Amino acid sequence: MSRKPIISGNWKMHHNHFEAIQTVQKLHYRLESDDYEAVDVTVHPPFTDIRSIQTLIEADKMKIGLGAQNCHWEEKGAFTGEVAPGMLAKLDVQYVIVGHSERRELFGETDEVVNKKVKAVIANKMTPIMCCGETLEEREQGEAEAKVERQVREGLAGLSKQMVANLVVAYEPIWAIGTGKTATAEDAEAMCAKVRAVVADAHGADAAAGVRIQYGGSVKPGNIVELMSQTDIDGALVGGASLDADQFAAIVQYRNH
Ligand code: 13P
Repeated sequence: MSRKPIISGNWKMHHNHFEAIQTVQKLHYRLESDDYEAVDVTVHPPFTDIRSIQTLIEADKMKIGLGAQNCHWEEKGAFTGEVAPGMLAKLDVQYVIVGHSERRELFGETDEVVNKKVKAVIANKMTPIMCCGETLEEREQGEAEAKVERQVREGLAGLSKQMVANLVVAYEPIWAIGTGKTATAEDAEAMCAKVRAVVADAHGADAAAGVRIQYGGSVKPGNIVELMSQTDIDGALVGGASLDADQFAAIVQYRNH
């Protein structure tokens, strides 16, 4: 089964809606229709930008996929400050990042919470990008694989094969996020292959063949080619470099390098 690459820009808490509009316009200008045929391109702005970007994408019939960075798992209720998945679906959001390491480390999200969110995103006909990844300490103590395995098993627990085959898992070693340090292509490939093996064990061969696995952590125009040439890496989740349309376009266009 051939998996279409997916390259996603996670803007984190950057770009107000004016800056977001400019960035998406510039990205659209840089990308060609061939690029969208070869790669699914998604942007994940802060919540306050989403309505503006939705309108822009619709008006100019852009093929950029709209994404969010997080959501709650309940449909509504007394959860001050939270955003329901159905609210995002109504804004034509297609992808939602779930369980980013910053959510896990800074906001206490557990595997159980991540699993509820993954299910809620799918129930609202959007695609989860579920993140996993180890800290430097865990890697040095030889615990990286066990942690990632647990995150994948628990995060995807209770999903059907079909659901798993259609979602995205992002492997982001925490020590590589925003640090300029990238995992070597071999180490990134080894962990992405591990993720696929865990999916095969838990959900079967078809789910493993379909699930798309992104690498994230200091992805730049200079390292994307080697990362994308690995068998089990189907895309990238890009932070810092996705804030700049030229850099992000250069990453999306890795085939031309
Ligand atoms: P950087 O690309 O800035 O390292 O961020 C990676 C990331 O966390 C994307 O979700």
